[in-house]
Amino acid sequence: MKNKIYRQELDKIAVYKPGRPIEEVKRLLGLKDVHKLASNEIANFPDYARKAVIEELKNINRYPQGDCFYLREILAKKLKVDKERLVFGNGSDEVIALALRALINKGDEVIVAYPTFLIYEIQAKVHSARVVRAPLKGLRYNLEEILSKINKRTKIIFIANPDNPTGTYLNQKEIEGFLKKVPANVLVYLDEAYFEFAPADFPKSINLLKKRKNIIVSRTFSKVYGLAGLRIGYGITSKELAGVLNRIRDPFNVNRFAQAAAITALKSDNFVKKVLLDTAREKKYLYRELDKAGLSFIKSATNFILIKFAKDAGKLSEYLLRRGIIIRELGGWGLKGFFRVTLGTHKENAKFVEALKKFLSQSGKVSGRTKK
Ligand SMILES: Cc1ncc(COP(=O)(O)O)c(C=O)c1O
Repeated sequence: MKNKIYRQELDKIAVYKPGRPIEEVKRLLGLKDVHKLASNEIANFPDYARKAVIEELKNINRYPQGDCFYLREILAKKLKVDKERLVFGNGSDEVIALALRALINKGDEVIVAYPTFLIYEIQAKVHSARVVRAPLKGLRYNLEEILSKINKRTKIIFIANPDNPTGTYLNQKEIEGFLKKVPANVLVYLDEAYFEFAPADFPKSINLLKKRKNIIVSRTFSKVYGLAGLRIGYGITSKELAGVLNRIRDPFNVNRFAQAAAITALKSDNFVKKVLLDTAREKKYLYRELDKAGLSFIKSATNFILIKFAKDAGKLSEYLLRRGIIIRELGGWGLKGFFRVTLGTHKENAKFVEALKKFLSQSGKVSGRTKK
């Protein structure tokens, strides 16, 4: 239809379908007991944040600090970077959008892997960029392919490291080699939402961005710190770009509870240690059980696992849902036959394994094993 009052190109943007919320599944299926293993949140409740959040209640008639003043000071010290290099967002999702808002003129190109975290592509389209996809190779980012797509119109390259939904990562050597080949006028967006979970050879990206102006690294309080419901993440980049992003963001984009909780998060090393230990233990448990079930999966540098199933991964997902277990079937992400499971508590993971085995025995099949 002509004469729509909004930009016509927005009709081409697919709706982002998040993992189904627990409340929704309870309501729709009449279930009491629902376990969400679908959105890469952690299972540990961040008790450390309770006091700070409750204390902040008395201030809710006042706007929050627009510049996240105290959080900025503490985080800058912890990261050993100038505080002018930081930009905070309503989740790191917002930092992705801000980078696009700052750099894209209509028709500029953005390179994304395919498949990868969906928000890059959605937000690129919102900001009138042309999306250029670089297919994964062996379920890993293919840096050569990405480099081959760079041209005069390229403005941003998005790299999820570690990647979602595959759980694979690029190491220091790979990222360093790649950065050397990217022209200085192309921004490399390193999305490190899961970096705390990654192994020792993970890139030291903050050192890398101190040497180059065309890098932004984003991180989040949603994953290892367990604050997904509060929405807070941040970007680290050159002072110049951070200055621009701070100028164009909404003035009060990070709410009071998020700021207070994030400050406490940065002092909660024991919580983080426990999350990492729990994650490592549960990952081992699931690897073992998946092996026993004859399923192929990718060893993950994150708190979730990508599992190869069969064409009917959708049926499995429905079966589990009816039993109160929410997972993510990945047909819509371009990974037909795969699903992703986020690590839950041990009890939840065991429940998932039990239901998975039941499904396999009832349907009398084991998906063909492929190499890991
Ligand atoms: C790769 C990746 N980047 C960014 C995000 C967004 O996180 P946030 O909660 O900080 O917006 C996610 C969330 O799942 C993610 O998987």
